[in-house]
Amino acid sequence: MAGNRTFTMIKPDAVKNGHIGAILNHINKAGFKIVAMKYTKLSAEKAGEFYAVHKERPFYGELVEFMSSGPIVAAILEKDNAVVDFRTTIGATNPAEAAEGTVRAIYATSIGENAVHGSDSDENAQIESDFHFAGTEVFG
Ligand code: RTP
Ligand code: MG
Repeated sequence: MAGNRTFTMIKPDAVKNGHIGAILNHINKAGFKIVAMKYTKLSAEKAGEFYAVHKERPFYGELVEFMSSGPIVAAILEKDNAVVDFRTTIGATNPAEAAEGTVRAIYATSIGENAVHGSDSDENAQIESDFHFAGTEVFG
């Protein structure tokens, strides 16, 4: 059965460009309820740990540097079929390929600086949520 929670981050580029409010509004309008949220900054070590699955990829160094370059908004979102529906809401990794009206089509600037993160499976949604939030910080 598909889970009803996913994890997201508004990435440093979108924060720097002043899009926090617009992106949260977009997420709410797409039917997601915010059950946990914090404005924070990842150290390079934490960003490296979060994206450890990409350690061998050529863009890993750049990704870690970017994700620790400024503040982010981390949040847990609730909706039926959350993981898959949120990936649809944010669009393809490369904004040039993202469907019209998706968060990345509107707010991302490049494949690396692509405005938002979305979990890719129920299992990773749980792992990523636990990485950022204690149980007492989640209000479902
Ligand atoms: P995310 O994990 O951030 O939601 O993104 P995603 O699933 O759509 O893409 P993924 O393959 O997991 O890649 C993670 C992040 O790495 C950066 N990236 N840069 N320069 C490049 O070719 C490249 N490819 C990926 C992006 O920030 C991507 O979101
Ligand atoms: Mg991913």
